Amino acid sequence: MNYRHAFHAGNFADVFKHALLTRILLYLMRKDAPLRYLDTHSGVGRYDLSSEEALRTGEWRDGIGRLLGADLPPATAALLEPYLRLVPGTAQAPGAYPGSPLIAQRLLRPQDRMTFSELHEHDSRRLVRSLGLEKRCKILTMDGYQALRAGVPPVERRGLVLMDPPFEERDEFERMARALENAWEKWPTGTYALWYPLKVAGGVDDFRQYLADGPIRKVLCLELDVDHLREVGALKGCGLVVVNPPFVLEEEARELLPALAARLAQGPGAAYRISWLTGE
Ligand SMILES: C[S@@+](CC[C@H](N)C(=O)[O-])C[C@H]1O[C@@H](n2cnc3c(N)ncnc32)[C@H](O)[C@@H]1O
Repeated sequence: MNYRHAFHAGNFADVFKHALLTRILLYLMRKDAPLRYLDTHSGVGRYDLSSEEALRTGEWRDGIGRLLGADLPPATAALLEPYLRLVPGTAQAPGAYPGSPLIAQRLLRPQDRMTFSELHEHDSRRLVRSLGLEKRCKILTMDGYQALRAGVPPVERRGLVLMDPPFEERDEFERMARALENAWEKWPTGTYALWYPLKVAGGVDDFRQYLADGPIRKVLCLELDVDHLREVGALKGCGLVVVNPPFVLEEEARELLPALAARLAQGPGAAYRISWLTGE
């Protein structure tokens, strides 16, 4: 396991994922009933953008760096505000960037619960420090797919699963799809968000087709390209498949994604796509 999110924190892919994560959680909180958030690949929770790792790649500059203090169209700004409020600092002097666990912890309410899995022991310990002692949060140092299998359905019977693996394994798309199917069989009403990279020859077509041909209904597919063709293996965009999405998510994505594609473009091929892999 070589992947370290500290090199990539706050990049365009994090902005895309975390902006949508925020929208989904806000929707689920419209009801007072408690919810569960399960984060299968949690990372360390907080990322110092002035760290050696972040400075070495500088990826955040083309991500959150382009949004902090930006003059956005009012409708886009309104949708991004709850996310951007959680990111301290300015584009010139950014503060610590919140990972998915911290975003959830800051947004969710006293009645909600969160389960985080992080396989890497060192990162798991850092996650404990980022979140502090919190009875709402459970942190597991174990494989996220196994934790998911054991954790569904949650007692709350409503909530969100975020799967955000590092894609170091060649069969990560298959593992993620299998984990989704297993969890969905036990908890078909949960909302599931699965992040994935878009690379030239990256294997995403098979993943989309597999889900389109499968039994799971209501699968919304949101994608953002920041560039068109790059060398094989380079990240040119990313996607989020959302099962049982909030009914407002498609409409919100139609506002957000064009704005993000324009704002985060790194080349002439910046684009977005919104489609349903399966319907009702
Ligand atoms: C892309 S990062 C997660 C970022 C985080 N979700 C966020 O948005 O801030 C992926 C994380 O998964 C961890 N990881 C790798 N394999 C894992 C596994 N099998 N189960 C759980 N975590 C794993 C890595 O150590 C890394 O911290």
